[in-house]
Amino acid sequence: MTMKIKKARGTRDFLPEEMWLRDFVEKKIIEVFETFGYRKIMIPTFEHSTLFKIKSGEEILEHMYTFKDKGGRELCLRPEATASVCRMFAEEMRGEKKPLRLYYSCPMFRYEEPQRGRYREFWQIGIELIGPKNEYSDAEVISLASLALKNLGITHKLEINHIGILRNLLRDLGVDQKLQSRIMTLIDKKDPSLEDFLKKNVKKDWEKILELIQLRGEKEILARATELLSDHKSCLLSIEELKRILDILDYIEIEYEVDMSIARGLEYYTGMVFEIKAEELGSQSQICGGGRYDSLIEILCNEKVPAVGFAFGFDRVVEVVKLKGLNFPEKRLDILVVPVSEEERKDAIKLVNSLRNNFIGKLSVTLELMNRSLRKALEYANSIKARYVIIVGKRDLENGKVTIKNMDLGKEEKINLEEITNFFKEA
Ligand code: HAM
Repeated sequence: MTMKIKKARGTRDFLPEEMWLRDFVEKKIIEVFETFGYRKIMIPTFEHSTLFKIKSGEEILEHMYTFKDKGGRELCLRPEATASVCRMFAEEMRGEKKPLRLYYSCPMFRYEEPQRGRYREFWQIGIELIGPKNEYSDAEVISLASLALKNLGITHKLEINHIGILRNLLRDLGVDQKLQSRIMTLIDKKDPSLEDFLKKNVKKDWEKILELIQLRGEKEILARATELLSDHKSCLLSIEELKRILDILDYIEIEYEVDMSIARGLEYYTGMVFEIKAEELGSQSQICGGGRYDSLIEILCNEKVPAVGFAFGFDRVVEVVKLKGLNFPEKRLDILVVPVSEEERKDAIKLVNSLRNNFIGKLSVTLELMNRSLRKALEYANSIKARYVIIVGKRDLENGKVTIKNMDLGKEEKINLEEITNFFKEA
């Protein structure tokens, strides 16, 4: 009896060609992270659900994979990494010298409606900068995201805001924490019912919220926000903080757009927030999201430790690389060794073995294992774009030689067995 079992909804299989591209893209991103002095960490795949109940917000909780283990503990698959990294810091790294520059690259799990660019298991590559609280650390994180995309040749749009502007306004207008979260979610989702909701639930000056979130453009719009919010002192402080960050971005020539409607889907943000979009992707164009969260660690360890970070939606970044046909090297087999008949198989294995020992990590070497004839083996080598075929034949062996065929040039030459290592060192 056969049983046809399919992969779970929202998950994917990655075939070798796809993995080659994904690994290449990951390497290009990580090399920029490491240039900035970030160090790799790994967090557990599952955590106590409570960790995400603290401050990640309704949006995340709604989509969490939660389960009980055999000991009755309530656990969940990690829906994002920031809360885990903060937990890790509180549990393991408090004694370390700050700042801590950390990065991760791993899958996250959210029970969402799958569609192109939106999966239930998806990968994030992100960083967290723990310790400093100033505009230079905010600018570092943004410039890191921007350079990583530049390193892949991805043109992108950076949108930036300060969550304090909106939050402080809502607080000044007498909106309690719970209602604030509802409003932030509606703003984040650009939900058309926002206006009615504000009318119904915010007693005075609700129009100010609508006016504020319509502000978008260059740095000059900060002046308009300042005018609009002149009675709200704490909002003005947030605007000034944002301006100091933008000044640095101008100085290091990073282009951006201020968008006062960026509310982010997660609740732990306290300062600058940003999103990066790649237009090629259509409805799921957001390839990166991040911001400053200065109070999350304190909840976990009673020590005030500010932090800022971001995560790339790695699957979406890979999609842009594919759509734009950006240049990346092709993965090819270097050498296929083919015995002409069973008689030469032992010599062929010996040759394969010696090449593998001499070129570990440098060349890929395989032995023909499907009993193909020489003609079929050459066809196969062509189809997988192998660079060289080494033909091990009886007559050549009698003279201490083998035939090496360069598949790109279609050229054959006979080489002494002792010279093979040198031949490939030079090739
Ligand atoms: P986030 O905006 O929820 O932020 O996720 C970051 C990125 O992950 C998004 O911009 C998007 O590209 C990608 N993403 C989210 N959900 C999915 C999905 N279902 N399928 C495919 N890609 C998805 C965070 O998770 C924060 N932890 C980022 C952060 C780090 N903030 C501070 N430090």
